[in-house]
Amino acid sequence: MKRTSRYPFSISVLHWLLAAALIGNLILGLMLDDNLDLLALHKSIGIAVLALVLFRLVNRLRLRRQLPASVNAHGTLSHLAERLVHFLLYATMLAIPILGWLKTNAAGHAASFFGVFSLPTLVDKSHALSHWFGMLHAAAAYGLAALVGLHVAGALVHALTRRENVLTRISPLRATSASTDAHV
Ligand code: HEM
Ligand code: HEM
Repeated sequence: MKRTSRYPFSISVLHWLLAAALIGNLILGLMLDDNLDLLALHKSIGIAVLALVLFRLVNRLRLRRQLPASVNAHGTLSHLAERLVHFLLYATMLAIPILGWLKTNAAGHAASFFGVFSLPTLVDKSHALSHWFGMLHAAAAYGLAALVGLHVAGALVHALTRRENVLTRISPLRATSASTDAHV
């Protein structure tokens, strides 16, 4: 399989869909203190995020040999930082909704998706577990926010100061000149 000059279409679409859903749910999460009506919406969006993240991971594994080479040279500190931040972004994307699900179950509720169905109950009601899963859920969400800050700063450094086409590489819109595009 050939290496391409940009990310396959499905990877780009899932990147921006999840970026919007995660940032949106992060903001909703921060608004929960003032408005508990938002909690059901927050949980439902979070469950959709969990499904999309699992799909994204499988899709990335499927397309692992078709990803563009990193703009950072192998063996450099920036390459290591890029790999670490991408790994931690995936880890938090997956951990946050699972911890929210566990927190909800430990608080004595089922994790419902817009009232249509509920995820299986993983833990029994427990005050202590509810507290700890809640703390871990919040800590992971703040961690994600910090990582996204680093990630966007890194992308802007490459795009603006080094004039590398990182934003085009992850854009789902077809560039007219990119003959090697992989729309997978
Ligand atoms: C919650 C928000 C975000 C998450 C979780 C996230 C995660 C990721 C991950 C894991 C990758 C590596 C490609 C992959 O394996 O899918 C990536 C690539 C990329 N992201 Fe994000 N991202 C987010 C938001 C953003 C935003 C707001 C920007 C805007 C600057 C951005 C710009 C990029 C760029 C330019 C690349 C491609 C880098 C390259 O060319 O290698 N991301 N993102
Ligand atoms: C996947 C994306 C998600 C993000 C980014 C996210 C983010 C957040 C944030 C920032 C808070 C506020 C934390 C605080 O300051 O105390 C919060 C609270 C909460 N989230 Fe999520 N969440 C997500 C998914 C979920 C899911 C899937 C569930 C359950 C099914 C859930 C259940 C809750 C609950 C119950 C609270 C209130 C916690 C408490 O009262 O201690 N979240 N979330």
